[in-house]
Amino acid sequence: MTDLAIIGGSGFSRLEELEITRREVIHTPYGEPSAPISHGTFKERKVAFLPRHGTAHTIPPHKVNYRANIWALKHIGARRIVAIAAVGGIGPEMAPGVIAIPEQIIDYTHGRDHTYFEHDLSQVTHIDFTHPYSEKIRQRLLKAAKAAKVPVVAGGVYGATQGPRLETAMEINRMERDGCTLVGMTGMPETALARELGLDYACCAVVANWAAGRGDGPISMKEIEGHIGRGMEQIISLIEALVGELGR
Ligand code: HPA
Repeated sequence: MTDLAIIGGSGFSRLEELEITRREVIHTPYGEPSAPISHGTFKERKVAFLPRHGTAHTIPPHKVNYRANIWALKHIGARRIVAIAAVGGIGPEMAPGVIAIPEQIIDYTHGRDHTYFEHDLSQVTHIDFTHPYSEKIRQRLLKAAKAAKVPVVAGGVYGATQGPRLETAMEINRMERDGCTLVGMTGMPETALARELGLDYACCAVVANWAAGRGDGPISMKEIEGHIGRGMEQIISLIEALVGELGR
């Protein structure tokens, strides 16, 4: 049984602190996951790691096989997932470098395979998605952040866009009117699929840039990569504290 599964986002294709014991290639009824799953130990806990964009970071957000990824994690016996995601900041509290544990999500994606309940209407389950993230994991993450002295914003509304292009300034204005404080390209359908399979799922969002129209000038990949790199050090401390807390 896996104590925790981590889905790594941009800038987080490897969890170096994980002592990998084996890599498992899983074929799912929905096709191939982004990569083999790395099984290992981290702080004496069994942790599994899956890089969302592939081992060599080659799969763009709209091409990720979200169904295969979540199915594979369920298949290995994971019950809890922490998903790491780079995002843009919309709300004034979401400056580049901030780590946020969002509590809501709005889906602006389209054309993605977004459900396991596809064919037989008698099998369709309308999952409750009022609170899209696992409050249990969110609270554990917040506790871990406190213990590790990693400053985090306890909340946020993640607007999931289609990508791979970034947004226009007006799209960001509209998203802000909708209530979004963060914008990213991978939160959906990943979050909903985890709920469909009954997994506890929460997100650690690393703000990599001000969203379109909120900073000075165009958004550069250099800026995004710089903030992700620094944010990831904090994410590691956070995950370390979280893993230490699990099972207590
Ligand atoms: N928009 C969407 N996705 C992102 C952004 C952004 O500004 N930054 C990092 N991922």
